[in-house]
Amino acid sequence: MVAVIELLRDGVACKLGAKNPFSGAGRPLEGLDVTGTTVARVGVPWLLQASGKFMNDYEYRIMREVEDSFWWYVTLHRAVVAEVQGAMAGRARGRVLDAGCGTGGMLERLRQTEPGWSCSGLDFSEGALAHARARGLVELRQGSVDALPYADESFDVVVSLDVLYFAGVDEARAMKEFYRVLKPGGVLVLNLPAFEVLRGEHDAAVHGVRRYTPARVRQMLSACALENQRTWCWNLWLFLPVLCWRWLSRWRLAARTRMAGEETAKSDLTMPPGPVNALLKAMARLDFALCRWIRAPLGTSVFSVGRKPESRRPDPDVENLSRAL
Ligand SMILES: C[S@@+](CC[C@H](N)C(=O)[O-])C[C@H]1O[C@@H](n2cnc3c(N)ncnc32)[C@H](O)[C@@H]1O
Repeated sequence: MVAVIELLRDGVACKLGAKNPFSGAGRPLEGLDVTGTTVARVGVPWLLQASGKFMNDYEYRIMREVEDSFWWYVTLHRAVVAEVQGAMAGRARGRVLDAGCGTGGMLERLRQTEPGWSCSGLDFSEGALAHARARGLVELRQGSVDALPYADESFDVVVSLDVLYFAGVDEARAMKEFYRVLKPGGVLVLNLPAFEVLRGEHDAAVHGVRRYTPARVRQMLSACALENQRTWCWNLWLFLPVLCWRWLSRWRLAARTRMAGEETAKSDLTMPPGPVNALLKAMARLDFALCRWIRAPLGTSVFSVGRKPESRRPDPDVENLSRAL
């Protein structure tokens, strides 16, 4: 039963910051003392100090292993590729940034789609970037989405998938940075976890501090002068199972925490057997297309496409943006 539920849970598809059942298997990030879900500071780079929480190497290895085939990633990455193709309007040249690129699965797909696109990736984790480099990706930088190390108006498309919800991200600054680095007419593609009611053990494990509604994402876009092209939820078919699962997981976490005297949140990414994964892929693909068509107001994730106007406007002010968000 548990296995079945686990297959159905919406994988914000990586194990983030979970207490690693194989602790010792993953080498701690350079200079860091890994103590479960929290990070003890030992000469921590500023980037990680800002975050305070992070994924360890073990979780990035899992991400790297599954992201090319796990149904969740395949569905999401395929959808993003379609949006980027639309934004590029058939052009074989153009610059794309994956802000919070993890181990490089999205970048790899973009590169395979159109080798002429120049695809850059940024992540705060050197461990994640090492995996991306091993794929042969070269335009990679370590940095934070809220302080992008790129010139103004340098990208045609910025993609950021399941990154803004992290505890260490300054959401308003990140949105302003996305706006800044986009060329006029450029497109922002976001994917974010949906609805507070879906909060569960997973969020505790991944240090996810925000969940989103379509209305909030639209507000974020308009607060920084991006035109909302379309914003909707997906994974509608899993909304109810995930709701039940998350409720159960909150209760289970509370019970475990009481017994252990400390929080021991876990977030598991389970790769289902091939035929089940294939079925889930087909279902998720159908779900995504349907949700996009009806602009679904419910689902486990919010997907959004915004556009920077062609005409020059004053840059968004971070203070105002923070107040608006
Ligand atoms: C849920 S994973 C998603 C990875 C990738 N976007 C994908 O969809 O496969 C979130 C990623 O965001 C990165 N991240 C978290 N906070 C960040 C920040 N402030 N700046 C840049 N990357 C960050 C993490 O290291 C991790 O690789």
